[in-house]
Amino acid sequence: MEFLSERAKRLTPYTAGEQPKDARYIKLNTNENPYPPTPELSGAIREAAAGLPLYPDPDASALRAAIAKAENIGPDCVFCGNGSDEVLSLTFCAFFDAVLPLLFPDITYSFYPVFAGFYGIPVQTVPLNRDFEIDVADYFRPAGGVIFPNPNAPTGIFLDPGEIRRLLEYHAGRVVAVDEAYIAFGGRSVAGLIRRYPNLLVIRTFSKSHSLAGLRVGYALGQPHLVAGLNRVKNSFNSYPVDRIAAAAAAAAVSDAAYYAGIDGKIAETRGRFSRGLEKLGFTVLPSKANFVFASHPRVPGATLFAKLRENGILVRWFNQPRIRNFLRISIGTDENMEHVLDVLKNFVR
Ligand SMILES: Cc1ncc(COP(=O)(O)O)c(C=O)c1O
Repeated sequence: MEFLSERAKRLTPYTAGEQPKDARYIKLNTNENPYPPTPELSGAIREAAAGLPLYPDPDASALRAAIAKAENIGPDCVFCGNGSDEVLSLTFCAFFDAVLPLLFPDITYSFYPVFAGFYGIPVQTVPLNRDFEIDVADYFRPAGGVIFPNPNAPTGIFLDPGEIRRLLEYHAGRVVAVDEAYIAFGGRSVAGLIRRYPNLLVIRTFSKSHSLAGLRVGYALGQPHLVAGLNRVKNSFNSYPVDRIAAAAAAAAVSDAAYYAGIDGKIAETRGRFSRGLEKLGFTVLPSKANFVFASHPRVPGATLFAKLRENGILVRWFNQPRIRNFLRISIGTDENMEHVLDVLKNFVR
């Protein structure tokens, strides 16, 4: 800890899922997409490379215009950043204060407490109900803001947009941020509500549904005053978070919606088959609308299954955390990947 500032000493950094350097593993631990990105990308990337001597557009205008067109909103309602983790970090800084606590579920994306710690934002975690669902009535209390993923991670459970409207109305004076990282795998977005709710910020990523985790592009949708708030923080931190290649590739991805509907639909089908396979082996599988499932076995502890899968070349995620210690979060790969996982699991649960 030598040379560290007091500020840095106080941090509790996020631990990312393992990224092995070799290809020995079937990698089902960080919810990446098993299919390649649209082939449309290559031309766009080559063209953008020619412009690399010059800084990119600080506002990522062309990418914002492409997203705005796809969402049928104005480009001034779109903000782009270096992965949705960065957009989330800017959101915490721009909209959540140290006065009233920020609310989020007790079981959720584990980067939220890290961002809150970084900015000194007080937090109240709200327990999911006994079925691991968000019950919005539990959020009807004074707060500095609300954030949660929809579908939630790591449960995969989707919250109906009607319930989100109740939250937006109760917390009309605060930002309610809905992290739609996994919305393309069967959920229904609340992006259409941004016109009506000046406190709604929707955050998305190209990492999961668009097979571009390596590119690092995420974005937020909200009314122009929220986008201005994000820009205010961005421009105090890094003027050019989206590089030329990332902006061009992401814009090309947006324009090939049909391709992504195809692969994301395929993932949803595989998820259904895999869930049924797990259930046949005795697992309890939470109803997922994401590109992963969250499952536990009545007899074999989560830690044991995690270790056994790893020994057999399969990486999944296990959280050593109250209530979910017995669960594994397993990303959905190809049909072949998931059949192999079931074959391996069979040996340990019989
Ligand atoms: C709920 C949720 N939000 C955001 C992210 C971050 O995505 P990225 O920074 O790759 O855009 C993740 C990544 O796993 C996630 O699970």
